[in-house]
Amino acid sequence: MPAPTRRALLAGAGALAAMRVLPARAGSPAAHRLVIAPAEVPLVAPGGPDTAVWSYNGGVPGPVIRARQGERLQVEVENHLPVDTTVHWHGVRVPHAMDGVPHLTQAPIPARGGRHLYAFDLPDAGTFWYHPHLLSGEAVGRGLAGALVVEAREPLQVDRDLAWVLQDWRVTREAALAPFGGFHDAAHAGRLGNVVTLNGSAAEAFAVRSRERLRLRLVNASSARVYALEFRELAPLVIATDGHPIEPHAPEGRRVVLGPGQRTDLIVDCLGDPGAVAAVVDHGDPRFAYGLVNLVYDPDPIREEYAPAPTPIAPNPLPAPDLGAAEPLVLRLEGGAMGGLTREMAGRGVAWTLNGLSAHEGHHDHAVLATLRSGRSYRVEIINDTAWRHPMHLHGHVFRVLTRNGVPVARPEWRDTALVEPRERVEIAFVAGEPGDWVVHCHVLEHQGAGMAGLFRIA
Ligand code: C2O
Ligand code: CU
Repeated sequence: MPAPTRRALLAGAGALAAMRVLPARAGSPAAHRLVIAPAEVPLVAPGGPDTAVWSYNGGVPGPVIRARQGERLQVEVENHLPVDTTVHWHGVRVPHAMDGVPHLTQAPIPARGGRHLYAFDLPDAGTFWYHPHLLSGEAVGRGLAGALVVEAREPLQVDRDLAWVLQDWRVTREAALAPFGGFHDAAHAGRLGNVVTLNGSAAEAFAVRSRERLRLRLVNASSARVYALEFRELAPLVIATDGHPIEPHAPEGRRVVLGPGQRTDLIVDCLGDPGAVAAVVDHGDPRFAYGLVNLVYDPDPIREEYAPAPTPIAPNPLPAPDLGAAEPLVLRLEGGAMGGLTREMAGRGVAWTLNGLSAHEGHHDHAVLATLRSGRSYRVEIINDTAWRHPMHLHGHVFRVLTRNGVPVARPEWRDTALVEPRERVEIAFVAGEPGDWVVHCHVLEHQGAGMAGLFRIA
């Protein structure tokens, strides 16, 4: 496998990253169509060579689906892959039947021509994403991911509102995707790649106007890589985490850390010197640095005045957990290399456990980790007893991050995916929602596939 490349940034006039916005169909304002099929795209370098991927509507990532808060989203899906699939709407508080979990909330959408209609209301504004929930590691690793942007009723005024979908690929010298399914990846950090793309492109010049205000909706659609984005001399403000508003603030250490599955919305004002670079670095691996996007300034300012300080965006109608009355639960993460992984587990293809239990992909045999009552508040202490990072995701709910290693967090975030560092304890709280079995799993998809998944049963 080739070593990670440090791609030279393309200088000069580059095309804007094309947002493939799917037009709404006539007569049905919020109906979208996703055709899932193999495709060939130039991943490693613009202009070729082509890499065989799996795509939504022919491209990677899939189209940015844009809708409005309060609207009903309808998506017709057609599966032309050689394998069954589903679509999971990551972070959206969907009804249980629309959650896209095979064998649990729906039957898989059959290979070679299967169809499925998803239709649900959008209670929250924000940045969400969609991806398969069957053979997740391979399916997402082959490119299946796209951003879902739900506009607020009163959107924040910006000059441009852009989704930046980050994908990490393991590509061979022949520009093919390396084989999937190694147990070594599953028992360590997951499938880390050697090419990072932003909206499907490995390196790009991105033209901006001086004084332009951008809203960047970062989506980590990689199966394993935890990014830390740096914007060099630019000073971005974080305005939302996993879609939900937070008081605008500068990211700690000027780095935006983004675990698999997570999203961060940023305001970036194009001030300062032209030619600012947005770089991604691997959070935790100093050898990995990757110049990703070169913001090329048009010095002619977009307007006379500077944009005013951004005001906080309106909160989503999330149920606030009652911390006084919340019932405590524990979610203990164990296993993995240099940890509790035993020979016996490895023999079964299992590398990880949650509270001593583990489930395979496919969700036939998911273990119930806890039974919760709809409407009640819960505090869950996530204890990472492993040597690895785990972005823990709960379906159908949004939770508050309360403490890390017992210390209250400075700025409580709403999230659907919490990044838990090795040996760290993270406490979250939420109100149990619609009755049903809701998946909780690690969003390092190779970990999920090797046992790190279970259910919260809401009765
Ligand atoms: Cu984004 Cu259960 O997944
Ligand atoms: Cu994990």
